[in-house]
Amino acid sequence: MKKKPLPPSRGAAAVITGAGSGIGRSFAYEVARRGGAVVCVDIHAERAAQVASSLRALGSHAVARQCDVGDAAQMQSLAEDAEGLLGRPVTLVINNAGVGLGGPIGEVSLDDWRWCMNVNLWGVIHGCHFFAPALRDLGYGGIINVASAAAFGAAPEMTTYNVTKAGVLALSETLAAELAGTGVHVTALCPTVVPTNIVEDGRLPERRRDFARSAMTRFALTNADRVARQTLDALDRGDLYMLPQIDGRIAWRLKRLAPRLYARAVGETYRLLAD
Ligand SMILES: NC(=O)c1ccc[n+]([C@@H]2O[C@H](COP(=O)([O-])OP(=O)(O)OC[C@H]3O[C@@H](n4cnc5c(N)ncnc54)[C@H](O)[C@@H]3O)[C@@H](O)[C@H]2O)c1
Repeated sequence: MKKKPLPPSRGAAAVITGAGSGIGRSFAYEVARRGGAVVCVDIHAERAAQVASSLRALGSHAVARQCDVGDAAQMQSLAEDAEGLLGRPVTLVINNAGVGLGGPIGEVSLDDWRWCMNVNLWGVIHGCHFFAPALRDLGYGGIINVASAAAFGAAPEMTTYNVTKAGVLALSETLAAELAGTGVHVTALCPTVVPTNIVEDGRLPERRRDFARSAMTRFALTNADRVARQTLDALDRGDLYMLPQIDGRIAWRLKRLAPRLYARAVGETYRLLAD
């Protein structure tokens, strides 16, 4: 009798982008804890190296790789090298690297628009473009794309970020349809606030920085480790959408039930809290 394949989060050969901090680092630890091997990818070489070396110290197979996800050539060579780095074909890709950008439309510079689109959207496009065909041919594994509740939440003064994440969600939905029945699962992660370095590393108007910093702790209903665990479980179940927090799930439903009320409520709540 043919052996049932393991769920894709177990014993994976994984490539995780943005693994040097926050949610990506938590994914790296959780994949390793589930018996997987990991290529820890980050634009900051020292962050990737630190996570990979602490995973090796725990007995896991882990290597660090510096790579800018927004650079197609670098992502192509990552895809070409990954099997050699892992010692076997890639079975799990987590397109997690992302940056924060805030500010009203018209104030955000077009250079900042391009920077954020390049990392958050092109980074995930590159990850799917270069890795999905091999996974499909393998007929087994998973792709987790880290979107955000920003993909549907329409929070004011986050236009660029919202646009990139809506793109990641559309890409994930389409990929899930294309890969349906191939043995490759696709999950789009859509968290609200998770305390990480995203504000410190991001580009925000100075007048909003304190608000964003305090929101990271005041409104966080979860943490990165929990999100990573729940998302890998969702991938194993074959769930396309992973909304780990109740505020995100309420926003998702309210927007569909009462879109006009939703837009007004979100705008007014933002002004009340941020001003
Ligand atoms: N923290 C939140 O509240 C939150 C909420 C929703 C979605 N997200 C998403 O989660 C993902 C992870 O973010 P985080 O909150 O853990 O932030 P983080 O800043 O802690 O980690 C992001 C990591 O990505 C790396 N990175 C940035 N640009 C890169 C590039 N061009 N190439 C490769 N690596 C790059 C950074 O060096 C960093 O190590 C992002 O896609 C983010 O948009 C975060």
